[in-house]
Amino acid sequence: MESDAFVVELVGMVDAFCQTLDAAPPAYSYVPLSSDDDRVLIMKSRLFNEQRAADLYGGWLKTTPEFEVKAHMAESAYEEMEHAEILAGRIRDMGHDPFDYQPLPAQTAMFNALEGLRDTCQRIAGFSLAGESVAMHLIRKSLDAPSVPDWIKAPYKRIAEDEESHGSAPKEILARYAITPESQDAARRAVAMRLVLFREYLTSLDRWVIDKQSW
Ligand SMILES: [Fe+2]
Ligand SMILES: [Fe+2]
Repeated sequence: MESDAFVVELVGMVDAFCQTLDAAPPAYSYVPLSSDDDRVLIMKSRLFNEQRAADLYGGWLKTTPEFEVKAHMAESAYEEMEHAEILAGRIRDMGHDPFDYQPLPAQTAMFNALEGLRDTCQRIAGFSLAGESVAMHLIRKSLDAPSVPDWIKAPYKRIAEDEESHGSAPKEILARYAITPESQDAARRAVAMRLVLFREYLTSLDRWVIDKQSW
Protein backbone atom coordinates (compact mmCIF):
# COMPACT_ATOMS: atom_id res chain seq x y z
CA MET A 1 0.00 0.00 0.00
CA GLU A 2 1.20 3.57 -0.70
CA SER A 3 2.43 4.99 2.58
CA ASP A 4 0.19 8.08 2.34
CA ALA A 5 -2.87 5.85 2.04
CA PHE A 6 -1.55 3.77 4.91
CA VAL A 7 -1.32 6.84 7.15
CA VAL A 8 -4.92 7.71 6.24
CA GLU A 9 -5.92 4.19 7.29
CA LEU A 10 -4.22 4.57 10.69
CA VAL A 11 -5.77 7.99 11.28
CA GLY A 12 -9.15 6.42 10.45
CA MET A 13 -8.62 3.76 13.15
CA VAL A 14 -7.86 6.44 15.72
CA ASP A 15 -10.75 8.70 14.65
CA ALA A 16 -13.18 5.78 14.92
CA PHE A 17 -11.92 5.12 18.46
CA CYS A 18 -12.34 8.80 19.40
CA GLN A 19 -15.91 8.82 18.12
CA THR A 20 -16.82 5.96 20.48
CA LEU A 21 -15.89 8.26 23.39
CA ASP A 22 -18.03 11.21 22.32
CA ALA A 23 -21.44 10.12 23.61
CA ALA A 24 -20.16 9.82 27.19
CA PRO A 25 -16.75 11.48 27.63
CA PRO A 26 -14.58 9.58 30.14
CA ALA A 27 -13.40 10.94 33.50
CA TYR A 28 -9.97 11.41 31.82
CA SER A 29 -11.52 14.36 29.93
CA TYR A 30 -12.70 15.95 33.22
CA VAL A 31 -16.05 16.61 31.49
CA PRO A 32 -18.26 14.37 33.70
CA LEU A 33 -16.61 15.41 37.00
CA SER A 34 -18.17 17.80 39.49
CA SER A 35 -15.70 17.99 42.42
CA ASP A 36 -12.19 19.43 42.58
CA ASP A 37 -11.02 16.39 44.57
CA ASP A 38 -11.97 14.12 41.65
CA ARG A 39 -10.37 16.50 39.14
CA VAL A 40 -7.12 16.43 41.12
CA LEU A 41 -7.13 12.60 40.97
CA ILE A 42 -7.42 12.72 37.18
CA MET A 43 -4.69 15.33 36.95
CA LYS A 44 -2.39 13.16 39.06
CA SER A 45 -3.01 10.22 36.74
CA ARG A 46 -2.30 12.42 33.73
CA LEU A 47 0.82 13.83 35.38
CA PHE A 48 2.04 10.24 35.59
CA ASN A 49 1.34 9.85 31.83
CA GLU A 50 3.42 12.94 30.99
CA GLN A 51 6.37 11.53 32.93
CA ARG A 52 6.07 8.08 31.34
CA ALA A 53 5.81 9.73 27.91
CA ALA A 54 9.12 11.51 28.60
CA ASP A 55 10.64 8.19 29.74
CA LEU A 56 9.56 6.44 26.55
CA TYR A 57 10.79 9.13 24.17
CA GLY A 58 14.07 9.49 26.03
CA GLY A 59 14.58 5.73 26.35
CA TRP A 60 14.07 5.19 22.62
CA LEU A 61 16.72 7.69 21.51
CA LYS A 62 19.64 5.29 21.45
CA THR A 63 17.76 2.73 19.35
CA THR A 64 16.41 5.28 16.86
CA PRO A 65 18.87 5.60 13.98
CA GLU A 66 16.72 7.93 11.84
CA PHE A 67 18.16 11.38 12.53
CA GLU A 68 14.98 13.48 12.27
CA VAL A 69 12.97 10.95 14.28
CA LYS A 70 15.61 11.02 17.01
CA ALA A 71 15.38 14.83 17.05
CA HIS A 72 11.58 14.64 17.25
CA MET A 73 11.77 12.19 20.17
CA ALA A 74 14.34 14.27 22.05
CA GLU A 75 12.20 17.38 21.66
CA SER A 76 9.10 15.45 22.73
CA ALA A 77 10.85 14.06 25.82
CA TYR A 78 11.70 17.60 26.92
CA GLU A 79 8.21 18.86 26.13
CA GLU A 80 6.49 16.06 28.06
CA MET A 81 8.56 16.94 31.14
CA GLU A 82 7.45 20.57 30.74
CA HIS A 83 3.86 19.35 30.71
CA ALA A 84 4.59 17.32 33.83
CA GLU A 85 5.96 20.41 35.58
CA ILE A 86 2.88 22.45 34.66
CA LEU A 87 0.50 19.80 35.99
CA ALA A 88 2.58 19.17 39.14
CA GLY A 89 2.48 22.92 39.90
CA ARG A 90 -1.26 23.03 39.40
CA ILE A 91 -1.84 20.06 41.73
CA ARG A 92 0.37 21.68 44.37
CA ASP A 93 -1.59 24.96 43.99
CA MET A 94 -4.75 22.99 44.78
CA GLY A 95 -3.16 21.85 48.05
CA HIS A 96 -2.37 18.26 47.03
CA ASP A 97 0.81 16.20 46.68
CA PRO A 98 1.45 15.61 42.94
CA PHE A 99 3.63 12.56 43.56
CA ASP A 100 1.65 10.32 45.92
CA TYR A 101 -0.12 8.69 42.98
CA GLN A 102 0.03 4.95 42.29
CA PRO A 103 -0.56 4.14 38.60
CA LEU A 104 -3.62 2.05 37.79
CA PRO A 105 -2.71 -1.49 36.70
CA ALA A 106 -4.11 -0.86 33.21
CA GLN A 107 -2.01 2.30 32.96
CA THR A 108 1.17 0.44 33.93
CA ALA A 109 0.33 -2.27 31.39
CA MET A 110 -0.24 0.28 28.62
CA PHE A 111 3.12 2.00 29.09
CA ASN A 112 5.03 -1.24 29.58
CA ALA A 113 3.54 -2.60 26.36
CA LEU A 114 4.50 0.56 24.49
CA GLU A 115 8.00 0.43 25.93
CA GLY A 116 8.39 -3.01 24.35
CA LEU A 117 7.78 -1.75 20.80
CA ARG A 118 10.95 -2.35 18.84
CA ASP A 119 10.94 -0.31 15.66
CA THR A 120 10.46 3.29 14.75
CA CYS A 121 7.21 2.87 12.79
CA GLN A 122 5.58 0.88 15.60
CA ARG A 123 6.68 3.38 18.22
CA ILE A 124 5.56 6.43 16.28
CA ALA A 125 2.26 4.81 15.22
CA GLY A 126 1.37 3.23 18.58
CA PHE A 127 2.57 6.00 20.84
CA SER A 128 2.76 9.35 19.05
CA LEU A 129 0.06 8.99 16.41
CA ALA A 130 -2.52 6.95 18.32
CA GLY A 131 -1.94 8.15 21.87
CA GLU A 132 -1.46 11.84 21.25
CA SER A 133 -4.43 12.03 18.85
CA VAL A 134 -6.76 10.49 21.43
CA ALA A 135 -5.34 12.74 24.16
CA MET A 136 -5.78 15.84 21.96
CA HIS A 137 -9.33 14.84 21.10
CA LEU A 138 -10.17 14.63 24.79
CA ILE A 139 -8.30 17.85 25.65
CA ARG A 140 -10.44 19.66 23.06
CA LYS A 141 -13.54 18.20 24.73
CA SER A 142 -12.46 19.51 28.12
CA LEU A 143 -11.59 22.97 26.75
CA ASP A 144 -15.07 23.20 25.17
CA ALA A 145 -16.99 21.93 28.21
CA PRO A 146 -18.73 24.45 30.50
CA SER A 147 -18.46 21.87 33.33
CA VAL A 148 -14.64 22.09 33.33
CA PRO A 149 -13.27 24.96 35.49
CA ASP A 150 -10.57 27.38 34.41
CA TRP A 151 -7.92 25.98 36.76
CA ILE A 152 -8.04 22.83 34.60
CA LYS A 153 -8.43 24.57 31.25
CA ALA A 154 -5.46 26.95 31.70
CA PRO A 155 -2.68 24.32 31.82
CA TYR A 156 -4.29 22.25 29.07
CA LYS A 157 -4.45 25.27 26.75
CA ARG A 158 -0.65 25.42 27.01
CA ILE A 159 -0.31 21.68 26.51
CA ALA A 160 -2.68 21.74 23.51
CA GLU A 161 -0.60 24.47 21.84
CA ASP A 162 2.50 22.28 22.11
CA GLU A 163 0.75 19.17 20.82
CA GLU A 164 -0.82 21.01 17.90
CA SER A 165 2.47 22.61 16.88
CA HIS A 166 3.98 19.18 16.10
CA GLY A 167 0.77 17.32 15.32
CA SER A 168 1.80 16.48 11.77
CA ALA A 169 5.22 15.00 12.65
CA PRO A 170 4.07 11.39 13.32
CA LYS A 171 2.20 11.30 10.00
CA GLU A 172 5.21 12.61 8.10
CA ILE A 173 7.53 10.08 9.77
CA LEU A 174 5.18 7.18 8.96
CA ALA A 175 4.70 8.36 5.36
CA ARG A 176 8.49 8.29 4.98
CA TYR A 177 9.32 5.00 6.71
CA ALA A 178 6.23 2.74 6.72
CA ILE A 179 6.86 1.68 3.15
CA THR A 180 6.90 -2.13 3.29
CA PRO A 181 3.97 -4.49 3.97
CA GLU A 182 5.88 -5.75 7.03
CA SER A 183 6.44 -2.33 8.58
CA GLN A 184 2.84 -1.33 7.82
CA ASP A 185 1.48 -4.47 9.44
CA ALA A 186 3.64 -3.94 12.53
CA ALA A 187 2.55 -0.31 12.82
CA ARG A 188 -1.13 -1.20 12.32
CA ARG A 189 -0.89 -3.77 15.12
CA ALA A 190 0.82 -1.24 17.38
CA VAL A 191 -2.08 1.20 16.87
CA ALA A 192 -4.64 -1.56 17.53
CA MET A 193 -2.75 -2.58 20.68
CA ARG A 194 -2.56 0.98 21.91
CA LEU A 195 -6.28 1.57 21.41
CA VAL A 196 -7.22 -1.63 23.27
CA LEU A 197 -4.98 -0.66 26.18
CA PHE A 198 -6.03 2.99 26.14
CA ARG A 199 -9.68 1.95 26.43
CA GLU A 200 -8.85 -0.28 29.37
CA TYR A 201 -7.01 2.59 31.05
CA LEU A 202 -9.93 5.00 30.47
CA THR A 203 -12.43 2.47 31.83
CA SER A 204 -10.24 1.80 34.82
CA LEU A 205 -9.93 5.54 35.51
CA ASP A 206 -13.74 5.85 35.38
CA ARG A 207 -14.09 3.03 37.91
CA TRP A 208 -11.48 4.55 40.21
CA VAL A 209 -12.63 8.16 40.15
CA ILE A 210 -16.38 7.95 39.45
CA ASP A 211 -17.30 4.58 41.00
CA LYS A 212 -14.70 4.86 43.82
CA GLN A 213 -13.33 1.37 43.23
CA SER A 214 -9.66 0.44 43.69
CA TRP A 215 -8.98 0.45 39.90
FE1 LIG B 1 2.27 15.92 27.11
FE1 LIG C 1 2.66 14.87 23.90
